[in-house]
Amino acid sequence: MGHTVAVIAGDGIGKEVVPAAIACIDAALDAHGESIEWDYLPWGSDYYLETGTMMPANGLEVLGEREAVFLGAVGLPGISDVETLWGLLIPIRRAFQQYINLRPVRTLPGISSPVRDGDSIDLVIVRENNEGEYSEIGGRLFRGLPEEAAIQENVFTRKGITRVAKYAAALAGSREGIVTSATKSNGIIHTMPFWDEVVEEVISASPSVRLEKVLIDALAAKLVLHPGEFDVIVASNLFGDILSDLAGAIAGSIGVAPSANLNPENEFPSLFEPVHGSAPDIAGQGIANPIGQIWTGAIMLEHLGYSAAATDLTHAFESALRDGIRTRDLGGAATTQEVSDAIVSRLAQ
Ligand code: NAI
Ligand code: MG
Repeated sequence: MGHTVAVIAGDGIGKEVVPAAIACIDAALDAHGESIEWDYLPWGSDYYLETGTMMPANGLEVLGEREAVFLGAVGLPGISDVETLWGLLIPIRRAFQQYINLRPVRTLPGISSPVRDGDSIDLVIVRENNEGEYSEIGGRLFRGLPEEAAIQENVFTRKGITRVAKYAAALAGSREGIVTSATKSNGIIHTMPFWDEVVEEVISASPSVRLEKVLIDALAAKLVLHPGEFDVIVASNLFGDILSDLAGAIAGSIGVAPSANLNPENEFPSLFEPVHGSAPDIAGQGIANPIGQIWTGAIMLEHLGYSAAATDLTHAFESALRDGIRTRDLGGAATTQEVSDAIVSRLAQ
């Protein structure tokens, strides 16, 4: 008996790319005589419109009994992003201590970079996923008055920085051995110097790993100009979020970018989702790129121990791309379904 994975397709193109990816994952597993049981959960904005919440009150308990969560995207025009993100995604990331958000970015066959064609990109962003700038601490005051104000506190803990830096160091140790730390310790005078100190302390315990500290503004420019020079980038919640869309776009399209929200200790289920959102501008047209969701599926398979199926799935989507089967965001004309079918047929061979 295989694992049971909770599926939250969510909103917009999530409803299109999740089934497209599951067909490919099933085909990859099937070729090895393996299978996963999918537990489909109808949570998200439609559920919110019916019930007033994004997931039921016992939602986290339900997910806690599953081995992983496979999520599409949440977000619907007309409902505040605060409701959709803080009502589902962020509580899951925090309750399940998914403190690593892993976002690999690499050049894929047949996809050209809009800015640095020819550069070979192979980097991983390790984003802190539980604290930092995305904190609930703060508030609004004097609402509606000329004095109206908003205050938002950042939270950086020694434990939080240590564990993300350790993860980045171990990952770099298995790759090129370079950790680039995104910082802004020239402008943000309390939290960022603390981030720098703890990251430096942690990385210095791994002599084979070289640490480069780069200010986030310069790092954004360097990522555009020399994306091939990076190995592992470790960043706070906000910086990592921004850099991963940027890096995804540099590699070709945000539609191919995968991500994993990991609880490395496996005390809780991890959550796997593409970097992109619900893309309301193209939802319902059947043209969304499913590769980000499919690559995310390959990372999930690897995490759950289905290594051979994960490798096959990766080779299959690379082969489809190499053969020119591309959606519109990549300059092609294929539909979501056509990309999925092409990958399934490669896996069935
Ligand atoms: P987005 O990622 O949904 O879309 C940005 C642009 O990229 C759009 O032009 C879209 O058409 C395109 N795009 C994204 N994914 C694509 C794909 N697979 N294939 C082809 N084109 C693709 O970001 P946006 O527009 O800022 O946010 C839309 C909604 O999604 C918002 O409600 C936002 O809060 C939510 N969101 C949810 C996330 C999540 O569930 N983890 C992450 C990011 C945004
Ligand atoms: Mg984002």
